Amino acid sequence: MKSFPLGGMPATQFVHDYWHKRPLLVRRAWPEFEPPIDGDDLAGLACDALAEARLVTGNQAAGYSVRYGPFAEADFHDLPPADWTLLVQDVEKHYPPLAELLDAFSFIPVWRLDDIMVSFAAPGGGVGPHVDQYDVFLFQASGRRRWQIAEHFDPALVPDSELKVLQHFTACTEWTLEAGDLLYLPPGVAHHGVAVNAGLTYSIGLRAPSVADILAALADEAAQDEAQWGRYRDSELEPNFRQGEIDCHTAIRFQALLADSPAGAAGTNRDWLAKFLSEYRLAQRPAAPECPVTLNELQAHLQTNGRVQRNPWTRLAWCEVGSECRLYAAGQRYRANAELAERLCSRRRLSAADLTDSDLPVTLELANDGHLFLTE
Ligand code: SIN
Ligand code: CO
Repeated sequence: MKSFPLGGMPATQFVHDYWHKRPLLVRRAWPEFEPPIDGDDLAGLACDALAEARLVTGNQAAGYSVRYGPFAEADFHDLPPADWTLLVQDVEKHYPPLAELLDAFSFIPVWRLDDIMVSFAAPGGGVGPHVDQYDVFLFQASGRRRWQIAEHFDPALVPDSELKVLQHFTACTEWTLEAGDLLYLPPGVAHHGVAVNAGLTYSIGLRAPSVADILAALADEAAQDEAQWGRYRDSELEPNFRQGEIDCHTAIRFQALLADSPAGAAGTNRDWLAKFLSEYRLAQRPAAPECPVTLNELQAHLQTNGRVQRNPWTRLAWCEVGSECRLYAAGQRYRANAELAERLCSRRRLSAADLTDSDLPVTLELANDGHLFLTE
């Protein structure tokens, strides 16, 4: 399952020719794939209060409507035989074995990976033609689904609809995906997937912060420590201004104020970026274990073939600041070394052979903060 999913295409060629540029269909990306969860499992998860689930009913002719979870089992009993889709976000976090699928995408920085959304569609089911702002890999895990796409389209949306469905959509390309096929779509490509027969689609979604997201995070920080962020100053004020005018001298003072502030510096401040990216779009924070482990217990666990496994809710990012390596896990900072930080980001599980004695204190801290689990 962890084999490279691009049908033998080297990652460099994919990035050069397709990444952020054009869609790519890979037939038989994982022909042997056996979906570890089926429609019933998904419906069960959609009843969990912690899961983010949607049920979209309708079709392009009649229009679409959406209901949000958590659902009750009875909600699924009255569904028609066709024209509905159940979608659940972050499924690999609720069902960690699914997270292994993400390992096939190691050619993308780990902090870019958002989640695996799983949808189960009855025949005719879909969410309507729409545009996403993120790159997505759509993997057909079972059943068949027809995808229509358009790179140029009218952006007008169906009025008064909760779903952002395009009002006028004309496909320029159409593919029917069979189980095992994978479709890459760059951000901004309109797409419309309709189930030919009942089946599961896994959307491997990537995240890319918008300027608005970054400014919102900075605004939160500024609100917590207003004094440190500075304030407008005009010590060299020349009193011969035109009253009320925001002149170029005023603008230059504001420009300098912002450029020198954490807002202006954020883009080059790798420490800030690593922290921000380790908690960006995190739907749920990893919970600390009820019983913390001791260093001796961790050592004994590893010596008896135990492993530490990354909590799928944790997002990791790290940077070097001078000679110091700072590892961030869901916004919390740890002192690690670059080799360990890279290993933790590239592998979901580490055994005794992957950890030196000097790695153990930070490994223990990460485990006791809930970022790593002790597993077999
Ligand atoms: C779906 O799985 O039904 C929708 C995925 C998408 O279009 O982004
Ligand atoms: Co989409």
